[in-house]
This record gives sequence, structure tokens and C-alpha cells, in this order.
Amino acid sequence: MTKRVAILISGGGSNMVALARSMTRDHPARPCLVVSNVPDVAGLERAEALGIPTDCVDHRQFNGDRVAFEAALQSALVEHTPDILCLAGFMRILTAEFVTQWDGRMLNIHPSLLPKYKGLNTHARAIEAGDTEAGCTVHEVTPELDDGPILGQARVPILPGDTPDTLAGRILPLEHQLYPAVLRRYAAGDRTPVHLPS
Ligand code: GRF
Repeated sequence: MTKRVAILISGGGSNMVALARSMTRDHPARPCLVVSNVPDVAGLERAEALGIPTDCVDHRQFNGDRVAFEAALQSALVEHTPDILCLAGFMRILTAEFVTQWDGRMLNIHPSLLPKYKGLNTHARAIEAGDTEAGCTVHEVTPELDDGPILGQARVPILPGDTPDTLAGRILPLEHQLYPAVLRRYAAGDRTPVHLPS
């Protein structure tokens, strides 16, 4: 049975595009919705250009009421009956109550080699720490931020003179390879971790 995948974004949606483009032919999943918490972002236009249904649940309309925002988000999601949620550049922290409703059915991509550098400014922190490598991680989403079971990682060396931007420039293309590879396995019920370079 083809799995239905809803992708949550907040901005450009480059990971969403990579995921959507990967779900073709014998892939066990298809995109059913792209939803953003921010209106008028490029990711919504890119999803429409790909023929994917879109929606926007603007978190600013809820004046800090996280529960009300998540109730509206949940309503938008269930309309499209997704089997899997993929957070892809989604920049809102979700409550344990929301995450629990999607336990075992929600993935996220994080721009660090978890468990190192949960949260923000990951590349700057890795450079600052003098690390020799950095990367990205796809993990199952659990109530603890950036903490769920790791399903895949991609690594790059940190080079002398690297800045957060140059490092991001090398990691983002790997995100676009890693996330689709993990989703393909995950949608087929395979949780064997993906490691890049392989
Ligand atoms: C990426 O670095 C991703 O790791 C993080 O958000 C950034 C932008 O992602 N979650 P996208 O281009 O919006 O997919």
C-alpha cells in the first residue's frame, strides 16, 4: 500500500523538493500535502509547481497559543490522511502532545551529527568547537527536541577557513540525498540506518 507523506516546511523547502522528486516509480510513498507555518514562502510555490496540495497554518494567527496552533495544524494534516510526516526545514517546536499523536510516523532532518548540537546554529557551534567533521541527521521525532532514534547521517570534513555558510553549502546537498534515502526505507518499514558517504 503506497504510503501518503505530508511535508512540513517554514521556508525555501529545498528538502521538500528533494523528497517530493524522489517519490516516483517504485517508491513506496507519494507526497499528499505540503504545509507551511509561514505564508507566502518559496516552498509553497515550489510544491504547487510540483502539483502537490498545499496549505498554510500561520502560527502568528494564534498569538502564542501553541495548543491552538497545533490543533489547526492537525486539522489541516488529517484532511489529507497522511501515513508519515516529514519535517523539512520546519522551524516550530512541537509539543509532546502533538508529537505523541504521530509517534513512530514523523521524521525530521537536523543539520548536525546528532546527538551533538541539538537546537540552532549547529554549523557555527561545530566550527567553534574545533570539530574535524560536521553533517546532518535524519531521525524519528520524539517529544525531546532533536533526540529521537537516528535513521541516517551524512558527514563532511570541516575544512580550514570554513564558515557556517560554506559548511552549510556542502551539507545541504547531502541532506537532499540523505532524507530521500531514509524516507524510501522508512516507508517500506525498514529502519536500517543510512550512512553517507556510503
Ligand atoms: C536545512 O539546513 C535543514 O537541515 C534545516 O532547515 C534548513 C533549510 O531547509 N532543518 P530547507 O531548504 O527549507 O529544506
